[in-house]
Amino acid sequence: MKYIYDDLAGKKILITGGAGFIGSNLAFYFQKHHPLAKVYVFDKFRSDERFPNGHFKSLGHFQNLIGFKGEIIIGDINNPQDLALLENREFDYIFHQAAISDTTVLDQELIMKTNHIAFLKLLKIAQKHNALMVYASSAGTYGNSPAPNVVGAGEVPENAYGFSKLCMDESVRKILAEDPQRRIIGLRYFNVYGHNEFHKGQTASMILQLGLQAIKNKKVRLFKHGEQKRDFVYIKDVIQANVKAIEAPVSGIYNIGSGNARSFNDIVSCLKAHLGEFEVEYFDNPYSFFQNHTEADISLNEEYLSYIPRFTLEDGIKQYIDEIKAIAEKY
Ligand SMILES: NC(=O)c1ccc[n+]([C@@H]2O[C@H](COP(=O)([O-])OP(=O)(O)OC[C@H]3O[C@@H](n4cnc5c(N)ncnc54)[C@H](O)[C@@H]3O)[C@@H](O)[C@H]2O)c1
Repeated sequence: MKYIYDDLAGKKILITGGAGFIGSNLAFYFQKHHPLAKVYVFDKFRSDERFPNGHFKSLGHFQNLIGFKGEIIIGDINNPQDLALLENREFDYIFHQAAISDTTVLDQELIMKTNHIAFLKLLKIAQKHNALMVYASSAGTYGNSPAPNVVGAGEVPENAYGFSKLCMDESVRKILAEDPQRRIIGLRYFNVYGHNEFHKGQTASMILQLGLQAIKNKKVRLFKHGEQKRDFVYIKDVIQANVKAIEAPVSGIYNIGSGNARSFNDIVSCLKAHLGEFEVEYFDNPYSFFQNHTEADISLNEEYLSYIPRFTLEDGIKQYIDEIKAIAEKY
């Protein structure tokens, strides 16, 4: 069977947040597999500005784009003049990843403006040229609702980040109710890990953080008692979902996870299989809010998105472990 995405020659693909973790992986995917497509990255990149929690205000990093041959547009999605740079470029596809991705940020005004309001403006740009909009939503929309998490149920976010992502989804639901022909696909990523996440610092996945602790300190620290479960999804599956979205026959919102909840202790076991023995210290969780169990219900994805996760936690860590070792060596 021939797919549309087999032939993206000459198509214009915009990736917002393309200097970040997931966006840069998408940029390189298209560069490698669709060399005749025109790939554009739009990102604010990192400045030395930090949130009161000490984390950088934007996590994009030039190192994620070394070797990228497409066009890089530097701008802030909150700035109308910067968005105007995108107005008349007639993109065919927009993969919107730019956001405040740090779930511990407390500045609700900035989160709402960056994640929700700027998205509405990008939707207008997409509409102007009938571009397909594929955007990053999040499992944060489910808060601590019981797993498995089903799109349309238990959407009770517990932080401003999750709320801003739910606002994106609700806006899309309204638009699609009025105009079912609009081409918009929301992807609710669960806990993504893999290549190019290092520059997220303390907000990188637990797989990277525990891997680095194990290599450097021969000891990892976990919230008591390591049995909290998350749906960890490998970056290659997230890229697969974005690419499959190009072909999705209907617009809609989909969970993007592995479909299986795994515990932090499971991560430790996988890491030990590659790194040998190390100590595990359990300590009290300081966060008043923490998702204790997430698991993506992906039962509709195969039919509507042709998305089938290919990586278990064991498979993903096996592919990723050499990069974790190299990072530990370098930094
Ligand atoms: N990584 C995960 O586990 C995960 C889970 C659920 C949802 N998501 C969502 O996926 C998307 C990508 O996440 P990521 O992990 O790659 O995060 P990331 O922080 O690495 O990437 C986000 C990018 O957006 C850019 N950016 C931030 N504010 C901007 C602004 N105002 N204008 C222009 N660019 C701006 C940053 O510089 C960065 O390059 C985000 O929308 C995030 O909320 C990620």
